[in-house]
Amino acid sequence: MGDPFVSPLPTQIDELWERRSELNPTDDRPGSLSAEARAVVNHALDQLDAGAARVAFVDPKTDAVVVDERAKRAILLAFRVFPVVESAAGEFRYRDRIPLKRSFPGTRVVPGAIVRHGAYVAPSAVLMPSFVNVGGYVDEETMVDTWATVGSCAQIGKRVHLSGGVGIGGVLEPPSAVPVIIEDDAFIGSRSMVVEGARVRRGAKLGAGSILTASTRVFDAETGEELPRGEAPAWSVCVGSTRVRSFPGGDFGMPCLLVLRRLAEGETHDKLALNDILRDHGVAT
Ligand SMILES: CC(C)(COP(=O)(O)OP(=O)(O)OC[C@H]1O[C@@H](n2cnc3c(N)ncnc32)[C@H](O)[C@@H]1OP(=O)(O)O)[C@@H](O)C(=O)NCCC(=O)NCCS
Repeated sequence: MGDPFVSPLPTQIDELWERRSELNPTDDRPGSLSAEARAVVNHALDQLDAGAARVAFVDPKTDAVVVDERAKRAILLAFRVFPVVESAAGEFRYRDRIPLKRSFPGTRVVPGAIVRHGAYVAPSAVLMPSFVNVGGYVDEETMVDTWATVGSCAQIGKRVHLSGGVGIGGVLEPPSAVPVIIEDDAFIGSRSMVVEGARVRRGAKLGAGSILTASTRVFDAETGEELPRGEAPAWSVCVGSTRVRSFPGGDFGMPCLLVLRRLAEGETHDKLALNDILRDHGVAT
């Protein structure tokens, strides 16, 4: 067992969470509970934005996903204490409670990329026109390709490629729900969906159009073995597939994830090496 996790965020957030029904986004009287909560939540979102706090991470000692419940509560509280504010980007007008991220030191952000305040994006990441929601975490040298979406609190590791149109699901409620984790060196093929706290382990490559939810069944094509649900195994090549299930009405194909083959640790799939070359030259695929 690793050391018990202690959130870097203040315990005040837990107290405000207990009193959340008393909070009001339009109450801006100085000294009111809502005004106090707004300042605390603002600070928490700043911490998340800067990467000084994060909603979840994989504990290197135990390999378990650790969730900072307080960070999630801070995000949920933001929707209770921030009023709806109008903003503008060029000709476009918006109305929202959570402002947009303003600070991207070093990150290449292509026009059309939208990141909400409270999401961390590493300086060496590349954002094509895409969306990263509050609480999201995009680590070093990761490419978020065109129309990919990183849902609230989703954690994307280092050197990951989220291909065009990939949907990484968000999770805010219930507060105990585990966010989607995409570990270092993973590749997620075009238009794939990874949702509901599913986990793509280190170096796994998901073929285009793969679907992985917490309840997706996973099979090894070489051995026929059934693997843990909702997880793409480390250093593997996986594709969306179907398994036959018998119902009273007949036999039907039900979705599953098929592990086509295993890669050596650190191995890049040949077909996907092209993406690395393009990324080195700053071109999105
Ligand atoms: C998964 C992938 C890496 C597999 O490549 P591969 O190891 O060379 O495997 P193959 O292409 O030989 O395919 C192996 C089998 O899986 C099937 N398959 C391949 N990709 C598949 C996919 N995405 N979904 C379902 N089945 C797939 C093939 O039809 C083939 O079946 P067969 O042997 O009966 O003909 C590749 O097909 C893929 O999806 N790459 C991602 C592409 C992408 O999204 N790029 C992003 C932008 S460039």
